[in-house]
Amino acid sequence: MKRTDQEIHAAGRSPDASEAYEELDIDETAEPSEHSIDASTYAQPRKFRIAVFASGSGSNFQAIVDAVKRRELDVEVALLVCDKPQAKVVQRAYAAGVAAFTFRPKEYASREDYEAEILRVLEEHEIDLVVLAGYMRLITRVLLEPYEGRIINIHPALLPSFPGVDGIGDAFRYGVKVTGVTVHYVDDGMDTGPIIAQEPVRIEPDDTLETLAAKIHAVEHRLYPQVIRQISEGRVRLEGRRVVFE
Ligand code: GRF
Repeated sequence: MKRTDQEIHAAGRSPDASEAYEELDIDETAEPSEHSIDASTYAQPRKFRIAVFASGSGSNFQAIVDAVKRRELDVEVALLVCDKPQAKVVQRAYAAGVAAFTFRPKEYASREDYEAEILRVLEEHEIDLVVLAGYMRLITRVLLEPYEGRIINIHPALLPSFPGVDGIGDAFRYGVKVTGVTVHYVDDGMDTGPIIAQEPVRIEPDDTLETLAAKIHAVEHRLYPQVIRQISEGRVRLEGRRVVFE
């Protein structure tokens, strides 16, 4: 399937802006005045660019965007990729001025086909790191190979316990006293990649599934931006299965 204009919503300035600039009458031989500001004043180092993949509410997407706004995280949230065009996270992306690529998996012959399309969009947006945040699909080699060691996921349990789609509920029903949050690199298994960070959350006698979920999400919203910051600063290295911080 081909992308349509409705499916990719670019953020940023109008493409005509540079043409308009070229029409300006600029005297390139003029000497700078005492008060002039040259281009280096505005020159910005290239920011580390992330794409967030999500399928639902997008509270983690929001936490990342908010951390950037508060200047706790110095990255460009350059793209949202979402397999459910009606999901709330897409509205969050519009509100934040983040470009969104949405698609309907059923309209593609295979998972590899839609991932090839996603790969093109990631390359167009020069994405350095793919951040899965509630993206309810497995990733195939089509994305894993070009983005090897550059795809991370957040899971709402202490892996390798309680992998899968309901980490919070599975831990609660099992009756463990401590669960938590894991951030890990993505490989071709279900929640099996090398672990980057974990934080425990105690399950108290009076916790319900709802109160536990709230505690888990609060940890996620703090931990994920922290880990993204460490990766963007080049402080995270993989040694076999072990993740080392510098
Ligand atoms: C989070 O609990 C995350 O750990 C899991 O999916 C949930 C996504 O929530 N992988 P949200 O869409 O970010 O609110």
